[in-house]
Amino acid sequence: MTSIRPTLLCAASLILVATGAASAQQADPQAIVDALFKAGGNQPNVRGSGAKGVCVTGGFTPSAEAPGLSKAPHFTKPLPVTARFSMGGSNPKVSDKAKPVTRGFSMRIADPAGDMVFVFISAPVFGTKTPEQLLAFATVRAPGPDGKPDADKIKAFSAANPETTRQAAWLNARPIPASYAGVDYWGVHAYTLTDAKGTATVAKLKTVAVAGQLGLGDDEAKAKPDAFYADELKERLAQGPARFDLVAILGEAGDPTNDPTAPWPEESRKSVKLGTLAITALEPAATCDAATFDPVVDLPEGVAGPADDPMFAIRSPAYAISLSRRAN
Ligand code: HEM
Repeated sequence: MTSIRPTLLCAASLILVATGAASAQQADPQAIVDALFKAGGNQPNVRGSGAKGVCVTGGFTPSAEAPGLSKAPHFTKPLPVTARFSMGGSNPKVSDKAKPVTRGFSMRIADPAGDMVFVFISAPVFGTKTPEQLLAFATVRAPGPDGKPDADKIKAFSAANPETTRQAAWLNARPIPASYAGVDYWGVHAYTLTDAKGTATVAKLKTVAVAGQLGLGDDEAKAKPDAFYADELKERLAQGPARFDLVAILGEAGDPTNDPTAPWPEESRKSVKLGTLAITALEPAATCDAATFDPVVDLPEGVAGPADDPMFAIRSPAYAISLSRRAN
């Protein structure tokens, strides 16, 4: 495990050391973002992932235990939150019933001293463990002339890269979420939380839906239109806030910190509640679209991403490229 705070520079050198200059070039953020857009049909003015989504606002109230793990000022007082729920991928017309597709939960907990941003998905694992693998994963899913990806190519890629099938297997084993507020979301990376005395704790972060896991049965799913999450959320928030507990799952020796496709045995790990997110209102899309939720740069002292996970730091330049594309 590591407690080294990552920077963009060290991420770039990690990739070079790990893979050599040629493949670092291949998997540069621009190439990955281009491949993500192609896989979703190259739609204009949308995100490279999470293209379909709903912007919301609310608040974060830290728990009494949180400052014992992290000295971040965000864990000392209630703060406002801007957040976005989304569907994975760059196709803004994807059905809310699509499977196996992750739902996303991005959140900006705003403090005058600097924001704390987390970008989570509705699975404990990501689909790829290196930028090179993500590039290949997205490239193989580009639609052909018939508008569909080549199923044989995907099958061959999956067979050669078995860890890339874990996320889909996990999602396929569960029902379609009935609500953005009725499913848990994971950070997938191993974060290091550092308290005021300098004690570091490696943890994976998760939001636990207070409403529980709300899944659609097959008949219920058939009866739903392709876009129902936004209306469902509007109705839900009219009744009261949608709450999530932000939880730290504490790592133990041997838990991998460098591979977001490798799950930790969560049920046998200790967890600590860091606070509660209360989503209270829908917000115009523009509030979330003007900037990107950057999970790498927007972290306070006391919360650091993994230095040894090559998927982490490269997210920052990739998200910036995607933002510049939709801003044009
Ligand atoms: C090499 C790693 C990754 C790359 C290159 C990448 C790429 C992207 C890009 C280009 C966007 C659009 C950003 C924007 O336009 O604002 C995005 C958004 C998103 N990504 Fe990633 N991603 C990576 C890893 C991950 C991981 C590990 C997760 C899971 C926690 C994740 C979850 C999301 C979500 C939920 C969004 C939607 C954000 C929003 O609502 O604005 N990504 N990703």
